[in-house]
Amino acid sequence: MARILVTSALPYINGIKHLGNLAGSMLPADVWSRFKRGQGHEVLYICATDEHGTPAELAAAAAGQDVQTYCDEQHEIQKRAGEQFGLSYDWFGRSSKAPNRRLTQHFAAKLEENGFIEERVDRMIYSIDDQRFLPDRYVEGTCPHCGYDKARGDQCDNCGRLLDPTDLIDPYSAVSGSRNLEVRDTRHLYLLQTRLEQPIRDWIGSKTGWQTLAKSIALKHLDEGLIDRGITRDLKWGVPVVGPDGGPRPGMEGKVFYVWFDAPIEYIGATEEWAEATGRTWRDWWRLDEGAEDVRYVQFMGKDNVAFHTVSFPATIIGSGEPWKTVDQLKAFNWLNWYGGKFSTSQGRGVFMDQALELLPADYWRWHLTAYGPEGSDAAFTWEQFQSTTNKDLADVLGNFVNRIVKFTESKFDGVVPAGGEPGDVEARYEAAIRQGIAEATEAFEAMEFRKACQAVRAVWVLGNEYLQEAAPWTAFKTDVDRAAVGVRTGLNMVALFARLAAPVIPFTAETIAASVGSSDLSWPSADEDFMAAVPTGRAIVHQGVLFAKIEDEQVAEWTARFGGADAA
Ligand code: MF3
Ligand code: ZN
Repeated sequence: MARILVTSALPYINGIKHLGNLAGSMLPADVWSRFKRGQGHEVLYICATDEHGTPAELAAAAAGQDVQTYCDEQHEIQKRAGEQFGLSYDWFGRSSKAPNRRLTQHFAAKLEENGFIEERVDRMIYSIDDQRFLPDRYVEGTCPHCGYDKARGDQCDNCGRLLDPTDLIDPYSAVSGSRNLEVRDTRHLYLLQTRLEQPIRDWIGSKTGWQTLAKSIALKHLDEGLIDRGITRDLKWGVPVVGPDGGPRPGMEGKVFYVWFDAPIEYIGATEEWAEATGRTWRDWWRLDEGAEDVRYVQFMGKDNVAFHTVSFPATIIGSGEPWKTVDQLKAFNWLNWYGGKFSTSQGRGVFMDQALELLPADYWRWHLTAYGPEGSDAAFTWEQFQSTTNKDLADVLGNFVNRIVKFTESKFDGVVPAGGEPGDVEARYEAAIRQGIAEATEAFEAMEFRKACQAVRAVWVLGNEYLQEAAPWTAFKTDVDRAAVGVRTGLNMVALFARLAAPVIPFTAETIAASVGSSDLSWPSADEDFMAAVPTGRAIVHQGVLFAKIEDEQVAEWTARFGGADAA
């Protein structure tokens, strides 16, 4: 059995995540971790909140809290939402914790030792009233090209041109609106990525397990040419910049590392948090010289994060010259759109994780977002499609099958798995088709093709209904009880099997389904095992209630009105 390290992009701290965030990284990482655990592998699934940077500072200020308190609260909120969604993190850490601070400072020191860090003086906009330097996008003003009066310092949203904040006419602070701004010199550390281009290219070339989307984004960035990157900021909230001796760095007192420099390091930091909390060891997951050679490391993320994971973070790791584990397989997702437009955290558009759970249990969402997620291309979330996939796949196909056979066992066989009769040709035919389906689902999950895997799983569930239709134990019961007993036993074994196939995607319901046939086995089935003899005769069968309620048209209308739906695009 293998040791598999799984990470999903670290959700930013400022507020609960929307379904697009969930569908593009945390959920598939969880489904895949469950699949691999189900096969018996040792999986370590690590995630954390990404807590530093200007947006956290500003969100805290807007909430009237100090930033530490704000992050403490938001972390707990996200952690709880993740648990309620069944995200089976082995650890959900925080980038503001001590391990990440130590590691971030360590990497910076190594990079400097190896000649990849340079101090440079930048000219940045300082807001006298806000008493802070303003990152480019927090300076607004009139676009010199088109005259739009709310252009951001990095780009004009009206004409699309890239800008430098000093280009803006009549600039003001987006934080306070103050026009009391000046340009000041400020000293920063630069990571000399230009010198790391070839090693990064070689490293990418050596990776065979990345999915095409990820590789093409990485190469596009390299082909456009790397630039040296400022890795420090004039902020209070972050990992402090220190000198080589660990003390304050002359000329850079009070500065912190850029959030995108420390965030990916938190994958390692969070593993250290996990190890501290559980009495385990973390270096054998991350250091090639300390036992990590046999670890397989898989990352999940949205496509906007790919460049950071395939170029920037590798620059940090490769530049350190130390033998750290790097990503073996990288699965990137496209966008989940909200009708024709985008989900937006800042504008509150779309459905957020906490709201989703007020409407329906986690498994409804998990199924829809995994089976119809933004995988090969962007996908639009609409209430109508969510209704349709829920009603068809979950209620009609899976729920109905389990319900029929379990209820029939209760009413005609006293709720006990009946003995008698021998399986025949019909059973053999379905068994073979199911084996084929398991093999397809397994192959698709191995390849991290989630839509395809779900379709294969669904096709197996469909076979269950077709079997019951054909074997028709309710008809046989009138003339040939043994024949009916075979149908019931076969159906109940299918129930146990279907729960196992469901487990990675809809773990809560999988448990309920298994319980109805007295089982708690949710391991991933292999195509050649004897799954038709898993539920012994004589065992008690207990109906567990309706598994999935259909979504009614009235609910769709209500939710569309509440969340904007179509007209929010
Ligand atoms: N917080 C970032 C985002 O929401 C993702 C950070 S992933 C990390 O886009 F690995 F770099 F932390
Ligand atoms: Zn413009």
